Amino acid sequence: MSDSPDTTAAARLAVVNLVFGSMSAQVVAACVKLGVADALDGAERSVGQVAAACGTPTDTMHRLLRAATAIGLVAEPGPGRFALTEAGMLLRSTGPGSLSAFARVFTDPVMLTAWHRLDDAVRTGRTTFEQAFGVEFFDHLKAEPELGAAFNTAMSQGTHVTAAVLPGAYDFGRFAAIADVGGGDGTLLAAILGRHENLRGVLFDTAEGSARAGDVFAAAGLAGRCEIRTGDFFGSVPGGVDAIVLKSVLHDWDDERATTILRNCREALPDDGRLLVVEPVLPEAVADVVAPVIYLSDLNMLVNLGGKERTRDEFEVLLRGAGFAVEDVVPLPPSGFCLVEAVAA
Ligand SMILES: C[S@@+](CC[C@H](N)C(=O)[O-])C[C@H]1O[C@@H](n2cnc3c(N)ncnc32)[C@H](O)[C@@H]1O
Repeated sequence: MSDSPDTTAAARLAVVNLVFGSMSAQVVAACVKLGVADALDGAERSVGQVAAACGTPTDTMHRLLRAATAIGLVAEPGPGRFALTEAGMLLRSTGPGSLSAFARVFTDPVMLTAWHRLDDAVRTGRTTFEQAFGVEFFDHLKAEPELGAAFNTAMSQGTHVTAAVLPGAYDFGRFAAIADVGGGDGTLLAAILGRHENLRGVLFDTAEGSARAGDVFAAAGLAGRCEIRTGDFFGSVPGGVDAIVLKSVLHDWDDERATTILRNCREALPDDGRLLVVEPVLPEAVADVVAPVIYLSDLNMLVNLGGKERTRDEFEVLLRGAGFAVEDVVPLPPSGFCLVEAVAA
């Protein structure tokens, strides 16, 4: 290992930046909660104008905007004058590609409290969410409807990139009907049905998870082709379809519970049906093709839900245990996700 002053200083800075990373995330959170990105919108404004629009004192807003500038959300074209960068634009509450709900949810104490016990989770292999909140993650969301609604929007915002690429990456046109199980607000299903006018869809989720799906389908002109069914995927999932999509569902659960969901899918599908799992697929060794955020997501599953991100081998074993065989794994760039296509074994 080199100990030249330059590399030592760079290594120290790298560690300090990592340690301060959670504070950077709180700068993002404060910008969203105070409406800073909406106040700046597409224009250059003085710190006084932003402070007035957000209802804060000027000096503390100036300090927030300086930090937001230092971490790349905002630029300071002239002293005390600020404008959003391309990244900062994504924190506006609406507009193309908005990540405001995503930022709000993933910086919330409900998401982060269990992270403070990551060491315990690594030691025991068990989620630390229940230690802090007394119930499982999705049950807790039911008790906090505002956060639950933000979670659903955050999932939809996180699904945007996959929804843009998946419908063109797989031939959904061969099916008459598909179900999206744990499909949230229907963002992905709407994108698939939007491309295939003869395809019917069934959106299956809890009442809370699917609360906004009706609006999403109505806005896309798909209400007539899409049915919303509520229920518990640990009990059963809707039949009468040719394929089932499971996006970002299996990674929420440990192998035993994921197997229950998969067995229910196997029971609901005809023998020539297809199971389409849409999730990141980890390589056997850490590789640059997988963004660091996927490995952080894996630990997020560990602390908050007890689930995990999986390798191809792990998917194969899991699916085999529920009566499926993996037929293909198709990467879906630039989403970081893959389509794992499985058939009855
Ligand atoms: C991580 S989100 C994924 C949402 C969506 N598929 C996406 O990728 O944007 C997991 C989904 O599973 C749903 N869910 C959790 N527990 C469930 C259950 N027992 N039965 C049905 N859906 C459930 C949640 O409401 C949520 O919409």
